[in-house]
Amino acid sequence: MKNISRLFANNRAWAEEMTRQDPDFFRRLARQQSPQYLWIGCSDSRVPANQIVGLPPGEMFVHRNVANVVVHSDLNCLSTIQYAIEVLRVGHIVVCGHYGCGGVLAALRNERSGLIDNWLRHVQDVGRKNRAELDQLETQPRRHDRLCELNVLEQVLNVSQTTIVREAWLKGHALAVHGWIYNLDDGLLRDLGLSVASERELETALYPKPR
Ligand code: CO
Repeated sequence: MKNISRLFANNRAWAEEMTRQDPDFFRRLARQQSPQYLWIGCSDSRVPANQIVGLPPGEMFVHRNVANVVVHSDLNCLSTIQYAIEVLRVGHIVVCGHYGCGGVLAALRNERSGLIDNWLRHVQDVGRKNRAELDQLETQPRRHDRLCELNVLEQVLNVSQTTIVREAWLKGHALAVHGWIYNLDDGLLRDLGLSVASERELETALYPKPR
């Protein structure tokens, strides 16, 4: 029981510290949240959304699941996206993956772990779509890194193709979807260079012109 009671002690200390720094902090936040960002990230305990971008409570709406997957029919994720856009009116959605993702590795290795295999099937689909590129990489760690990146890029497109995001663009709501990746080794984020902020940009991202 010691380990779990430690959390309450930590919580009391944290709440006291926050109040000491800003006596009105909790009263203000309790009245309303007005985050500008929706973060869609991995559940991995080493990738705590607010902490790595230095944002306090109230400034980022967060959805996390194993391997940061956005499935077209996942009501949980879709509801989060809808609420973030239509009620909170966020202007940015960040899909953030991370190198060293265990979910992505399990998908790459075609491991059997039970129920979760069905979820990771979506990541395997990303691998299959990009098989030619992945096969050119010589080592498994490089394929793993690349699949972590490709998975983020795919999920950016999935977010952008939701009826919710397209509806927002149609209504002239300024909204951009970004793909980032986090490096566990140095704590740094990298922008993967795919940002989609309109129907036209989505079209270009989905169907790039052959070079
Ligand atoms: Co992960």
